[in-house]
Amino acid sequence: MIEIAIDGTAASGKGTLARKLAEKYGYAHLDTGLLYRKVAYEIMIQNKNTIKNINYESCKIARNLNFLDFKSENLRSEEVSNLASIIATNNKLREIMDFKQKQFVENNKKKFGGCILDGRDIGTKILPNADFKFFINASIEIRAKRRLLEKNITFLHENDEKCMLQSLINDMNDRDRLDRTRLDSPLVPAKGAYIIDTSKINANELLEKVSKIIERT
Ligand code: DC
Repeated sequence: MIEIAIDGTAASGKGTLARKLAEKYGYAHLDTGLLYRKVAYEIMIQNKNTIKNINYESCKIARNLNFLDFKSENLRSEEVSNLASIIATNNKLREIMDFKQKQFVENNKKKFGGCILDGRDIGTKILPNADFKFFINASIEIRAKRRLLEKNITFLHENDEKCMLQSLINDMNDRDRLDRTRLDSPLVPAKGAYIIDTSKINANELLEKVSKIIERT
C-alpha cells in the first residue's frame, strides 16, 4: 500500500496534482487544507468578532468535522483562506486535525491500495514514512495569477486587474509567512522530498514528471 505526501505553498499546483494522481492510480485523496478551511468557514458564519475564544471554538468545530460535508460551500474565498492560515497556528487544533487525517489514511489505505494527502505538514508530520514525498512551489507572481484566473473575473480597466493581483500577492505573502514560521508543523520540505518548481510547467507536465518518479521506483 502506497502513501504519497504532497506539501507546498498555496496555488503551487499541489492540489491539482494530488487530485490527478488519485484519479490516475485510483488511490484515496484528502485535501487537508479543506479541513482547516471548513473550520475557518464555520467560525466566520458564527461571526468571529462575537466569539470570545477562537482557539477553543475551532477545536470544538474540528472535533465534529465530517469529511462528507465539505463540498458545497465556498471554502476557497480569500477571507476563508486567511482565517484558515491563522487558526492553523493553534497546536491543539492541529492535534485534532492530525488524528482525523491519520484516521482517514487508516480507513482508506487498504480499500484503495494507497492514499494521497496534500497540505503543509504531510511529509513532515502526518505521513513521515510516506513512500513518496513531494514539495511543490512556484513564484508568488505566478501563483497569484493562477488564483486570479480561477476567480474568472472580467475587469473593465487594466488597473483594476493590477490592483486585484497585487492584493492577492500581499495576502499570499502573509499566509506563506504565517505557514512557514509557525512553531507547530511549519511549512518546510520534508527530508527526502522531491522539490519541484511549477512556475514554468503546467498541471499535465507536473503530473507527468511526478508519475515518472513514482513509476521508476
Ligand atoms: O492548502 P490550502 O491553501 O487549502 O490551506 C489553507 C490553510 O490551511 C493554509 O494556509 C494553512 C492551513 N493548512 C495547514 O496548516 N496544514 C495543512 N496540512 C493544510 C492546510
